[in-house]
Amino acid sequence: MNKRIAIIGASQGIGAALVAHFAAISNVEVFAFSRNLDKMLMQFTQKNVHSFALDISSNVKNQIHSLGLKPSFDILINNAGLLINKPFEALSQEDFQESYQVNVIGVMQTTQAFLPLLSSNAHIVNISSMGGFQGSLKFPGLAAYSTSKAALCAFTELFAEEYKNTDLRMNCLCLGAVQTQMLSAAFPGFTAPTTAEHMAEFIADFSMHAGAFMNGKIIPVSTSNP
Ligand SMILES: NC(=O)c1ccc[n+]([C@@H]2O[C@H](COP(=O)([O-])OP(=O)(O)OC[C@H]3O[C@@H](n4cnc5c(N)ncnc54)[C@H](OP(=O)(O)O)[C@@H]3O)[C@@H](O)[C@H]2O)c1
Repeated sequence: MNKRIAIIGASQGIGAALVAHFAAISNVEVFAFSRNLDKMLMQFTQKNVHSFALDISSNVKNQIHSLGLKPSFDILINNAGLLINKPFEALSQEDFQESYQVNVIGVMQTTQAFLPLLSSNAHIVNISSMGGFQGSLKFPGLAAYSTSKAALCAFTELFAEEYKNTDLRMNCLCLGAVQTQMLSAAFPGFTAPTTAEHMAEFIADFSMHAGAFMNGKIIPVSTSNP
């Protein structure tokens, strides 16, 4: 049977690279979600890719229910993210709310909506950041972003505990810098050591195989220390 894979935040960057990677594998059906449906339809012309408009910044569960998706999904990758880079004192109520809604609450609500659509041994992979990994090097300007990514790590542990008597698995990858539009917009002029395509290869492989071996794990994906 075909493996069915849902990727949230799929119109560009790492998410788009994930769609392209999975679409090239036989017996895989890819379901791509993000706000910009036209951008996905233009990029993903493969027969095994299905694109859907989804904005995880509000009313997430209703939006997903109204898509009429059929069970069952083997992999859910919560990749959508929002990075606001501003001095701490300049961060507004809206900045905090948007960051937490997209990076934490939206991910939890997406997961809730997908629960009845998942196969019994599905693997959910949350894409966090090294900035949200305890003890890592921190960067000024990322208080809203990195704290929200740390919350996503905590959610991963909490979900794994709550569902430990099932075969569902959830793990969290804390990525180091990857060359994408998000990175270029936040840190103009900085060149990351990793491309979106290269990172997507790793995430795809992890999402297909690691669920059998780990649950509730927060994994730093970076060559730099601390
Ligand atoms: N690049 C890095 O260096 C780096 C490092 C650590 C962690 N990460 C994490 O990796 C993930 C992917 O990052 P990226 O660098 O590929 O970012 P990106 O280029 O900005 O892409 C983000 C994706 O998320 C989607 N998205 C954003 N807000 C959304 C919303 N409200 N609802 C649905 N989809 C939404 C965007 O699509 P639409 O605009 O079409 O909605 C886009 O497809 C993020 O979670 C990010 O925090 C990235």
